[in-house]
Amino acid sequence: MNLLILGANSDIAMAAAHEFAAHEGATILLASRDVERLERKAKDLEIRHQIQARVLPFDAVDYASHAAFYEALDPKPDGVILAFGYLGDQASAQRDWGEARRIIESNYTGAVSILEIIAADFEQKGRGFIIGISSVAGVRGRQSNYIYGSAKAGLKEYLSGLRQRLFKCGVHVMTVLPGFTRTAMTEGMDLPARLTAEPEDVGRDIYRAWRKRRRVIYSRWFWRCIMHIIRHVPEFVFVRTKL
Ligand SMILES: NC(=O)c1ccc[n+]([C@@H]2O[C@H](COP(=O)([O-])OP(=O)(O)OC[C@H]3O[C@@H](n4cnc5c(N)ncnc54)[C@H](OP(=O)(O)O)[C@@H]3O)[C@@H](O)[C@H]2O)c1
Repeated sequence: MNLLILGANSDIAMAAAHEFAAHEGATILLASRDVERLERKAKDLEIRHQIQARVLPFDAVDYASHAAFYEALDPKPDGVILAFGYLGDQASAQRDWGEARRIIESNYTGAVSILEIIAADFEQKGRGFIIGISSVAGVRGRQSNYIYGSAKAGLKEYLSGLRQRLFKCGVHVMTVLPGFTRTAMTEGMDLPARLTAEPEDVGRDIYRAWRKRRRVIYSRWFWRCIMHIIRHVPEFVFVRTKL
């Protein structure tokens, strides 16, 4: 299996890569902006799992490069994990359109641009899988991170539509909704210990759910219950809370 990982410097993505390498013997194509870091991670994957790993430069917001990036892949991937994302700073984004735009483009627009290209190829071949990492932040907009959350909501709904489109031709699309996870993205944040997962937990959840051809997963599992409750709080109550 050839697995393409977009945003492969992500700690969650790397944890998933180790699962696919260990259990599927997958050849892994690691794509992201910081190629030097990727090279080290590729070597680690190769040594630990006796598989092949390649490194490719990829920038999710350099839309003009996406078609050529995919065109150059030989062989084409059997599946893709889309992991890139940018949390950014909500307060700055409220003042600074540049930051707001970076958040929106890194989490949503960039994903649509590259996934449409990949989807067309998988659709034409009638096989392949796409795993997209959104967030529980995309389930209900909250004052503390609604610019990031709305971009993740966009990605979640985009994946929903893509799943329906590609279902007919046997291409599987899985949406991953992680909650708090201890990664570079959340470094220095004061996260509730009991609700915070390690990237390895999320990587394992992703691999197991993919094996079962699940469509939408929360990671860890308890976020499904938490978000069910948060989603159903009536607006007149919700606006008064600090959730
Ligand atoms: N950590 C959490 O609590 C949490 C919770 C819910 C959802 N998520 C989502 O899970 C995914 C993985 O996050 P993580 O926690 O593993 O974060 P992470 O370790 O910070 O990784 C995010 C990666 O995204 C890549 N990236 C950002 N902008 C990019 C761009 N324009 N083009 C290409 N790559 C880009 C970066 O790669 P380079 O280093 O190469 O620039 C970075 O390594 C993200 O989509 C995130 O939003 C995370």
